[in-house]
Amino acid sequence: MKSTNLKHDSAFKHVTGQSVYVNDIKANRQLIGRVVYSTEAHARISLLDTKAALKLNGIVSILTSKDIPGKNQMGPVVDDEPCLAEDEVTFIGQAIVLIAAETEEAAFEAEKFILIEYEELETILDLHQAIAKNNLITPPRIIECGNVAETLKSAPHVLSGELETGAQEHWYLETQSALAIPGEGKEMLIHASSQNPAETQTIVAEVLGISKNEVDVEVRRMGGAFGGKETQANHVAAWAALLANATHRPVGIHLFRDDDQKITGKRHRFFSKYQIGFNNEGKILVYSVELNSDAGSATDLSRAILERAMLHAENAYFIPNVKIVGKAYKTNLPSNTAFRGFGGPQGMAVIENAIDKIARFLKKDSAEIRYLNFYGINERNITPYGETVLNNRLHIMFDKLLASSNYAERKKAINTFNIVHEFVKRGISLTPVKFGISFTTAFLNQAGALVHIYTDGTIAINHGGTEMGQGLNTKIHGIAAAEFGVSPEFIKISVTNTSKVPNTSATAASSGSDLNGMAVKNAIEILKSRLTEVAVTQLKEKLNKETLAADQIIFSDNSIYADSHPEIKIAFRDLVKQAYLNQISLSTTGFYKTPGIFYNRELGKGNPFYYYAYGMAVSEVELDVLTGESKLLRTDILHDVGDSLNPEIDLGQIEGGFIQGVGWVTTEEIKWDKRGNLLTHSPDTYKIPTVNDIPRIFNVELLTGYPNEGSIRKSKAVGEPPLMLAFSVWLAIKDAVSAVGNHLFEPRFSLPATAEAVLLSIEEIRGKLRN
Ligand code: MTE
Ligand code: MOS
Repeated sequence: MKSTNLKHDSAFKHVTGQSVYVNDIKANRQLIGRVVYSTEAHARISLLDTKAALKLNGIVSILTSKDIPGKNQMGPVVDDEPCLAEDEVTFIGQAIVLIAAETEEAAFEAEKFILIEYEELETILDLHQAIAKNNLITPPRIIECGNVAETLKSAPHVLSGELETGAQEHWYLETQSALAIPGEGKEMLIHASSQNPAETQTIVAEVLGISKNEVDVEVRRMGGAFGGKETQANHVAAWAALLANATHRPVGIHLFRDDDQKITGKRHRFFSKYQIGFNNEGKILVYSVELNSDAGSATDLSRAILERAMLHAENAYFIPNVKIVGKAYKTNLPSNTAFRGFGGPQGMAVIENAIDKIARFLKKDSAEIRYLNFYGINERNITPYGETVLNNRLHIMFDKLLASSNYAERKKAINTFNIVHEFVKRGISLTPVKFGISFTTAFLNQAGALVHIYTDGTIAINHGGTEMGQGLNTKIHGIAAAEFGVSPEFIKISVTNTSKVPNTSATAASSGSDLNGMAVKNAIEILKSRLTEVAVTQLKEKLNKETLAADQIIFSDNSIYADSHPEIKIAFRDLVKQAYLNQISLSTTGFYKTPGIFYNRELGKGNPFYYYAYGMAVSEVELDVLTGESKLLRTDILHDVGDSLNPEIDLGQIEGGFIQGVGWVTTEEIKWDKRGNLLTHSPDTYKIPTVNDIPRIFNVELLTGYPNEGSIRKSKAVGEPPLMLAFSVWLAIKDAVSAVGNHLFEPRFSLPATAEAVLLSIEEIRGKLRN
């Protein structure tokens, strides 16, 4: 089997029920852990009494903030997130009390006997209210280039606008879960569903007041994460650890769906304002945008998310004069967090919307305006933050996709369709994505690996990344097989464990395979150089040669040979055995750090990205003018993954990411009531895409023949960028709504384009038509 054709390691295990999730692991004498959380958005706790609850049958322990042996903190970047609330609560869903019980029923019963009284404080639940009060959670940031004020004055046309983009619930299938098992002395083992085991280890050690070498965090796989387990998986782990520490028994916490949705943060909603100046042709001269994000009650990753939004505000377009202002505000909602795209989608939505507005204003095709403004190849290729856009694939991809999607003819056909249909309208849109790959916090771009070869010739690979369904382990498996030159059957990717590879970064920023793949390759190179020495000695004998250079040794097809004599081979397994007998170490660590990247946040300048990933999509929708509902008729995607590490997995990531984006831009609407209660906390009120929402015609293709030099096996990251291709759907809906008014008026709806929002926009346009 080719190393790029490996099946997703979970595919078989999922359908046969063999995959092991945290909740499948049961420890001896395990207790149920339950979190009691605030029912007020902002209040002082005037009374907290757990005595009655503690007397109930089956209740082993009840903890409040006073019982935390270490630091009452779980903020990943800023210490503004208490593990358990002390005197004040700042959102509905904030943990106040932990219960350890023999049974779930007992835990529920105890909750009723816990008395909590609140004195209400003033709340800020609305982003606009937070903006009006200037309730910033972090200092504003600016990225600027050229002369924005002057160009706004001199530009032939200037349009301005505003855009709201909504929150999004992660809806991983496996809710937040952790199992804490106390060991000897202070030891604590955590089975976590965490994208960031090293950080989970840190937080657990801190709340318990013990050192990190006492805490092992193990992650087999997550049942989906999508950014929602980058920091917020730490919470359940810390709570479970506190209860396990207090009871000296294993404690598992597995949040119910509704609780998970209420307690955890979401994608940051944004409110953005912009001015965009351009000439008659449609060339953009100046763009000034203010991005305002709702951070929720704590900082979490809001700074980096805002930063990524700013670094993607211009998307694929060269604009000579740009000003991007970013502000994150504090509100009394759960702390918002990483979500696929990490702010990128929120930043890009604004410019994509603005470009459509330009096209409508100039009565031109928006795809044409996009093409005109793409970053150039040798000029017009510097981003507002100063990084040069290299290996630009935008023009090639545009040409290919325009042809493969038959864009021009379909555009004409849609116009004809719309003339003859009054109550059904169609719309089409092409949108590009240029997504920067690397953590923008430069030091995070490092990874480690630990590789063992056993004496039977089999290989165990450990790396610091985590498997969340994205196929990282399968990709690493393929990389290892190709680098060792052995069949995949001889290789096993073991669980991620902090005691095997320490101090790792989160598996995030789409860089899991880039970073961990390189670290694994590094370890394999070290082992191969050791094996090569043994091989040289043996082959010299076999070939009857005086000299044989190390660089003549080839590892391929489960064997080792000199390139001059491919017919004289040593089996990999025999060579390993020989190395062992020669007392050569068959185990090593590997390490990688991404070269040449840096970013100065204060100046808003630097080279934050190792490279860019590109994608492009054309989507066509059909809109029911009477209900505001639309159907996705067809989507064509062309995506750039360099030389694919595994085409099937990459296609899966592209399809999945795109559809997840379609949910965000169409039906996924999060609502809170006036007191800050989440109203959309289950699938009956929160509509994620289903099989019915997949485009009737769905053509997804990988760009081939464009290797990404300098990256693992010339591949590119793929996890997040496709989500942003969903703008093609959102803008196709806009195009269809625009057709209701014969493209004379700007459809005014934000994101998501729910049927309700679309219908209101249609009504507005019809009103204008009547006048
Ligand atoms: N795919 C699946 N099936 N499940 C997930 O949770 N997370 C996404 C993406 N694809 C996710 C996924 C996110 S947010 C990121 S950052 C990347 O996968 C992380 O993995 P990678 O760096 O290995 O691509
Ligand atoms: Mo992904 S949002 O970087 O976990």
